[in-house]
Amino acid sequence: MDARNIGLRNIEVADTKICSIDADNGKLIYRGYDILDLVNHSTFEETAYLLLFGELPNKEELLDFSSRVQEARNLPESIVNNLKNHPKRSRPMDVLQSCVAELADYDLNIEDDSKEYNIQRAIVLIAKIPAIVAAWNRIRNGQQVINALDNDSHATNFLYMLNGTKPTQDESKVFDICLILHAEHSFNASTFAAREIASTRAHMYASISGAVGALSGELHGGANIQVMKMLLEIGNPDNVERWVTNRLQHRGRIMGMGHAVYKTKDPRAEVLSRLSRSISTRKNNQWFDITEKVENATKKYMHENKNQGIYPNVDLYSASLYYSMGFPMDLNTPIFAIARIAGWASHVIEEKFAQAAPKPALYRPQAVYVGRYCGPMGCEYTPIQNRITPV
Ligand SMILES: CC(C)(COP(=O)(O)OP(=O)(O)OC[C@H]1O[C@@H](n2cnc3c(N)ncnc32)[C@H](O)[C@@H]1OP(=O)(O)O)[C@@H](O)C(=O)NCCC(=O)NCCS
Repeated sequence: MDARNIGLRNIEVADTKICSIDADNGKLIYRGYDILDLVNHSTFEETAYLLLFGELPNKEELLDFSSRVQEARNLPESIVNNLKNHPKRSRPMDVLQSCVAELADYDLNIEDDSKEYNIQRAIVLIAKIPAIVAAWNRIRNGQQVINALDNDSHATNFLYMLNGTKPTQDESKVFDICLILHAEHSFNASTFAAREIASTRAHMYASISGAVGALSGELHGGANIQVMKMLLEIGNPDNVERWVTNRLQHRGRIMGMGHAVYKTKDPRAEVLSRLSRSISTRKNNQWFDITEKVENATKKYMHENKNQGIYPNVDLYSASLYYSMGFPMDLNTPIFAIARIAGWASHVIEEKFAQAAPKPALYRPQAVYVGRYCGPMGCEYTPIQNRITPV
């Protein structure tokens, strides 16, 4: 096949009204609004509403949406009990994926695929994914699961359910910004997975559990765990240049660098870098410093040896930021999912209900069949007893 199209690069697969990326100028737009305006003026709840319904909410709409999320937050007791049966070593993304699929069992209207019920499912998932991640972290550490607070923001509630103490306003604000930044990013691998599953008319929970699986891989959301492992391995700003050069000379990848779409700096990385710098300064740690040196050393190597520009993506600075905020390293990707559910669910709804022509259809790309041993066609079947075992 044409190498330019490997991994569906440069192929348009659908129309969307949810998100656009200006790859050359490093701009990210949710439903017509610049991500930086949303970061500066809105909250995750407002942003999630915008993504789901296509317009910013007025006060009453936001209040109603927030209370629907609030009502859906706590987990059914049997899900908490099932969580307790997972081996403590289970990876949080695997636990999350199975719990999301399990939520279908509690949906009394699961046979009804109307838009109204899909919006309610989106709200349930926005509410319950943070509760699942927090509950699993507490259970694996032998702690009691904590129910959500009434009348507090989404960001505050997750930090409370995770840590058992109410965060400061500042901590809550920083986390809220992280959620806005990670909420949506067009046809990335996990969103495409969600839409592909939805295109079969499978339900919302099936689509989202598939997306969670796709996000877990290290070339996608899982990169933010690998970035933190790298920073810990490097350990000291003085080691960065040697470590990065050695990695690249051995054809390894620097996680958190490079992007399939942006040709310049990812706007989310700019904001996360500022937040990471500020928390590292306040906590007097070296994680921002090491991260910034990784960015610079990678750019220098790629420029000098491959004549190629490379920029940090969303995962580079979120890793050091989350570590400084005290999150266990393997929650980095589940935290990504806590935000991205807003985008995923909006895409599933668009996939199921978009009216404008061309309407979405069952995804069915073509593969180029390249026979491995015997050419593309005409192999003669040999009964098993006549097949020769190679020596
Ligand atoms: C995200 C990613 C898969 C996008 O890659 P892409 O634009 O599709 O480009 P490719 O994977 O085809 O790589 C193009 C070239 O750049 C190099 N490259 C891209 N990102 C690189 C990185 N992070 N480290 C080292 N080399 C990198 C590749 O080795 C390749 O070089 P080659 O042509 O000599 O083989 C890639 O940048 C990557 O692997 N990044 C690290 C993982 C990561 O941070 N993922 C989170 C993404 S948000």
